Amino acid sequence: MRSTKIVTLGLVTVVLAAASCNNGPRREPGKIYMPDMAYSRAVETYADHSNLTEAGIYYDATPVAGTVKRGEVAYFPLTQDKVGDTTNYVASKQIANPLPALNEKDMAEAKRLYNINCGICHGEKLDGNGPLYKGGDGPYPIAPKNLVADPVVSKMPAGQMMYSVTYGKNLMGSYASQLSTKQRWMIIHYVQSMQPGGVKPSAADAAPTAPAADTTKATK
Ligand code: HEC
Repeated sequence: MRSTKIVTLGLVTVVLAAASCNNGPRREPGKIYMPDMAYSRAVETYADHSNLTEAGIYYDATPVAGTVKRGEVAYFPLTQDKVGDTTNYVASKQIANPLPALNEKDMAEAKRLYNINCGICHGEKLDGNGPLYKGGDGPYPIAPKNLVADPVVSKMPAGQMMYSVTYGKNLMGSYASQLSTKQRWMIIHYVQSMQPGGVKPSAADAAPTAPAADTTKATK
């Protein structure tokens, strides 16, 4: 009985050894159960990534935190104030819009972005009466600022608007994750063009205006 077991075990070992020592040319790769682990999906830095989406790989070219994508404007240079502190909120008044005045096409895009992201509260007329507020009948609890008639906001410097849009203000949330830095500055150009004394774009490309602010302390 015992010897039969030993013989069987021996036979199995020999067969397995023979099977694993097939040194002939292999034409097929073995079975791969988890291809993602067998083949790297690493994204090469300067490679063409246009075909990744077709291959079912999610890739949106979002730059690594702290880096700036080519063609994007530098991050808003001021950090968010701690609760109760307003140092950077006040300092933000000095920061100029790094984008040159928008031409008609870019202004139309800025208006589109405004209507999607801001109009719901501030209204398409920028009068603080969007569908979420609806003169107090809507679900939003407090009146969003009237961006064209409020005595402070209608004269607010671009940099301070950017501060509030980037970090939020009381019941208004931050838009830093929904809109890129450039998109936020574009919207601010649009808001200012609608405010009293605001300049509407001409059909021709406008000349560049203020240079970019100091961006060495880039954070957001
Ligand atoms: C969910 C509603 C809501 C949305 C959406 C919204 N806001 Fe506001 N916004 C408010 C409210 C409410 C205030 C008033 C905050 C306060 O002073 O208490 C405000 C204030 C402001 C101010 C004045 C900030 C300050 O420092 O006093 C600006 C400028 C502004 N919003 C611009 C925008 C822009 C641009 C967008 C789109 C990117 C936007 N808001 C989206 C509700 C909203």
